[in-house]
Amino acid sequence: MSETPPVRAKENFLVFGSPALEQAEIDEVVACLQSRWIGTGPRTAQFERDFAAYKGVASAAALHSCTAALHLSLLALNLKPGDEVITTPLTFCATVNAILHAGAVPVLADIDPATLNIDPAEVLGKVTPQTRAILPVHFAGRPCDMDALLAIAEGHDLAVIEDCAHAIETTYHGQKAGTFGDFGCFSFYVTKNIITGEGGMVIAKRSEDLARIKVLGLHGMSADAWKRFGDEGYKHYMVVEAGFKYNMMDLQAALGIHQLPRVDAYHVRREQVWAAYDAAFADLPAGKRLGLPAPQEPNTLHARHLYTVLVDEETSGIGRDAFLTAMTKQGIGVGVHYLSLPEHPYYRERLGWRPEDFPQAMRIGRQTVSLPISARLTDVDVADVITAVRRVLRVE
Ligand SMILES: Cc1ncc(COP(=O)(O)O)c(C=O)c1O
Repeated sequence: MSETPPVRAKENFLVFGSPALEQAEIDEVVACLQSRWIGTGPRTAQFERDFAAYKGVASAAALHSCTAALHLSLLALNLKPGDEVITTPLTFCATVNAILHAGAVPVLADIDPATLNIDPAEVLGKVTPQTRAILPVHFAGRPCDMDALLAIAEGHDLAVIEDCAHAIETTYHGQKAGTFGDFGCFSFYVTKNIITGEGGMVIAKRSEDLARIKVLGLHGMSADAWKRFGDEGYKHYMVVEAGFKYNMMDLQAALGIHQLPRVDAYHVRREQVWAAYDAAFADLPAGKRLGLPAPQEPNTLHARHLYTVLVDEETSGIGRDAFLTAMTKQGIGVGVHYLSLPEHPYYRERLGWRPEDFPQAMRIGRQTVSLPISARLTDVDVADVITAVRRVLRVE
């Protein structure tokens, strides 16, 4: 008996998170190479200005990654050993690694199972005299409950660092994500809403913090050290701190300066994909159902970075890991965002974390699957994803 062929043949595999890229980026990278100024320089400076304008802030610092942005923001808080930073168990490992690299103790507060964001009531329960900061992640691009989190921060004199890796476009009560906290950290990694390959950006409430982050991101050399190779006459740099090599290259910024003007158009496309998935999966038959993302909350803008469904063996008729394998066999790339952090051996051993202590994040982490939602998807790609999901669930 011949098996039904997969929805997409191997050579046509739909890569999860494959980014939209256009000719302007390709031309700019070539122009950047031809200029022979490929390291940090004028294109990086332009991307910083453009991003700051998009966010409506005075300035921004481009870095090599969001991980670097989180690390330097935490360092700028001058944390002491034993200081605690509260964050979510449902995030990428970089969020917590940055806290550890800053010499502080990460403390987890469980999520709200509807929004998948950190639950302010859980945060409040984790505040101790050692707590110095809250590090909320706007999961999938859905804004956290910033009113509640800011009230806790204010009441306990805590800093706030927003992990906006998924949330470039996100707004909450009319205000842009990244502008609530002391710092907002963004990612332009290849799967993100706009991309520079690797890349990150940080914005800060206080200009002196941002200036320090710029210095820390380039070896601790005094401001604008990259200009020393320019035509304005040789400038000596002074090392004022032991910094890091976290600067963005112009080769990366060459992508960013063309991606950023399309950020809203790409968001519109992801909204369409989101609506198509919502419609296709809303009325699956009993026993073959998926948990779907909650609707966008009033007076907020969801950045639609991840479309996550919950696959529960009891209500879906298939386990999560079997679903992942079956989708891949159908030629559709899928993701997991995320196994809850206490599932990983390093954190269990070093920090004594146990998944069952964060039951909401544990359950979601064991059931969640991210379907493709890049702005690059065509209508045929979206239809193929839907067909593959129906086949995997054995919906006739
Ligand atoms: C929630 C979250 N935080 C931080 C990061 C780190 O971003 P980057 O890869 O730019 O360092 C990511 C990236 O995947 C992320 O998803």
